[in-house]
Amino acid sequence: MAILPIVTYNDPVLRQDAETVNENSEELQQLIDNMFETMYNSNGVGLAAPQIGKSIRLFVVDTDVMTEELEEEDDVGPMVFINPEIIMMDGNEIRLEEGCLSIPEVRDEVSRPEMIEVSYLDRDFNKQRLRAEGWLSRVIQHEYDHLKGVLFLDHISAFRRRLHRSALRKIENGKLEISYPVVPKAGV
Ligand code: NI
Repeated sequence: MAILPIVTYNDPVLRQDAETVNENSEELQQLIDNMFETMYNSNGVGLAAPQIGKSIRLFVVDTDVMTEELEEEDDVGPMVFINPEIIMMDGNEIRLEEGCLSIPEVRDEVSRPEMIEVSYLDRDFNKQRLRAEGWLSRVIQHEYDHLKGVLFLDHISAFRRRLHRSALRKIENGKLEISYPVVPKAGV
């Protein structure tokens, strides 16, 4: 397994519509293992393929550290979502603080629906359907956004975004000290 460098804030790959995954392969399985290792190494709870520079419809999630802390729901362990589709959103809009491994040290409250139902393929390409709430729902919605080129900053007000401007500049200029490997910025 290997830790992959994470692309950061202004990288165009984070703004692309990701491609459908068409087939299972040894390469894909290895990528999934590497994405888990990369996520755990950076203490993340979710990582989408575009964040390691691959514009494909795949993300990995493990919210157990959060749910243990909050005694919220049952631990579900590591989960792989291939070609996910959120087919239902329900419940109240809830505000929760989010961060993103591609936008280090920037956090803000984002409002999203409480509950979702998602259909997807697991890593063995079996069709699955999951109803989630709490942190799991939150993390899935955040990662799902990455497959559409959407970042959590897109959900906050222009006013709030301005408050993060200097931090975002630092990321863009490669001036931020980050405790995990990131893609070096071109021209820096
Ligand atoms: Ni993210």
